[in-house]
Amino acid sequence: MYVCNCNGLTQRQVREAISKLRPQDPGSIYRYYDCKPQCGRCVSDVRQMLIKERETEAA
Ligand code: FES
Repeated sequence: MYVCNCNGLTQRQVREAISKLRPQDPGSIYRYYDCKPQCGRCVSDVRQMLIKERETEAA
């Protein structure tokens, strides 16, 4: 399933970047895939995924 339609980023790709980079902000995830937010609609979803992954790791 796509998280970012503008850049064609899937949930799997975003999760993979989170586990590899341990990013502090969503921007790192876009940079990892050599892209950047365009319309910006996905940024809050990416941020939520980031927060959720951190919570999962902390548990
Ligand atoms: S959906 Fe990601 S920038 Fe538009």
